[in-house]
Amino acid sequence: MNYAIGIDVGTSGTKSALYSRDGRLIASHTAEYPLSQPQNGYAEQDPADWWEAVTASLRAILGESGVSAQEVAGLGLSGQMHGLVLLDKEGEVLRPAILWCDSRTGAEAEELTRRFTREKLIAITANPAIASFTAAKILWVQKHEPEIWAKVRKILLPKDYIRYRLTGEFATEVSDASGMQLLDIAGRCWSPEILEGLSLTEGMLGKVYESAEITGRVTSEAAAQTGLAEGTLVAGGAGDNAAAAVGTGVVEDGRAFTTIGTSGVLFAHTSQMKLDPQGRVHTFCCAVPGEWHVMGVTQAAGLSMKWLRDTLCTEETVQAEQEGIDSYALLDRLAADVPIGAGKLLYLPYLMGERTPHLDPNARGVFFGLSAIHEKKHLIRAVLEGVSYSLRDCAGVLAEMGVTSSRMMACGGGAKSPLWRQMLADVYHCPVQMPESNEGASLGAAILALVAAGEYSGVQEACRAIVNPSQECCPDESRSAAYDAVYEIYRGLYPPLAESYRKLAGLGE
Ligand code: XUL
Repeated sequence: MNYAIGIDVGTSGTKSALYSRDGRLIASHTAEYPLSQPQNGYAEQDPADWWEAVTASLRAILGESGVSAQEVAGLGLSGQMHGLVLLDKEGEVLRPAILWCDSRTGAEAEELTRRFTREKLIAITANPAIASFTAAKILWVQKHEPEIWAKVRKILLPKDYIRYRLTGEFATEVSDASGMQLLDIAGRCWSPEILEGLSLTEGMLGKVYESAEITGRVTSEAAAQTGLAEGTLVAGGAGDNAAAAVGTGVVEDGRAFTTIGTSGVLFAHTSQMKLDPQGRVHTFCCAVPGEWHVMGVTQAAGLSMKWLRDTLCTEETVQAEQEGIDSYALLDRLAADVPIGAGKLLYLPYLMGERTPHLDPNARGVFFGLSAIHEKKHLIRAVLEGVSYSLRDCAGVLAEMGVTSSRMMACGGGAKSPLWRQMLADVYHCPVQMPESNEGASLGAAILALVAAGEYSGVQEACRAIVNPSQECCPDESRSAAYDAVYEIYRGLYPPLAESYRKLAGLGE
């Protein structure tokens, strides 16, 4: 068959995209939904919004392309990782999903370390206790909402909830399951020891598949709602970062990519399992069977720009609309007018706590060096630079682990900005390249579906045939040196703040 669909259940919206067998984009549609922040540090979404966005976007791409649903070889799922979806015995959602960027679970991460010890968590789950991972969120519900917990029968990740709605199957796959902190990462199966320690049973979790395996088929009810053909295969797919790795061809040693979506991620493939003893980057199973990846995470990357745009740049948003251009393109234009260093203004992008390298859910954003001389354009430039420095922190940890790459792929909304791509090349001291299609996760999910459908013999073979790099940004020595000087100051800002962040978190609302 000639086509495949990739669905990416993101934090700002769900994208469904239809690709030809050779990876050409035929049609794509994104349906957006809100992020609810009922308290400082909380981040929740209604899984019904995801399903509505999936049905709307699938109908849109099938309608717009005129491709018959019978011609679709399969569908792959990708999505925001770590989110906690709880279902009762009827399969109904019990409470809003608690998302990856929710930082309410600092105490629960500490509790996990006390229960299992840091050494055991690293030995089994390849990572120390991390507030963003699903296990800490499960503990939070057990402790704070026992009446909800008593009704829980199934626990799913965001994209796996969509799988359940499409196929009726409770299933997951190794890459996303890795981020629950319940998986034995070396063995690629649920850990009986961790499940027991959290009063969970295997029956409460999805069956674990490899990313390119068939996990189920579209039911007649889902076919009627989405326009898909009944019986269309649904592949395991992957968490959004592991799926973006497939979509950018990062499926072999020596390859890495940076994605700037709501979060920012620096991801490197490793055929052998590698760990950072300090737990500053995550080690997870990847979409290539029997292989892994390591990745550093900036919690609020694109989210920092979205926050700045929505709170301070309403005039610019209106102006962009009048000019018929993307609002971020207009902000880029303003930032390009400011030299490196943003007029001695630095930004720490810790709006939702931070993972790499600080692992601190209490951290919050900072503008440092603010002066009466600064205008909005300086703030915009400082945000772009601060996120880039945070990603350089990730690169530093990977380098300490001996994981290097001489070429960096880039994808996600932020990679559309030529200014940001060039900044990353200069800050990393390394060429940054886009894939021909800047599709990342949805293309990766579709490639996994093509492999599951038997159209290609394996993930690496499919990537070799489908993914082509294009436009390259090369680093410039003098610009890199100017960024290095500011980065040195950036690195010194967090350590003396850690204790104040802890005290700030302890204040009443
Ligand atoms: C990765 C992570 C984020 C989300 C964003 O660990 O939490 O990248 O997957 O969608």
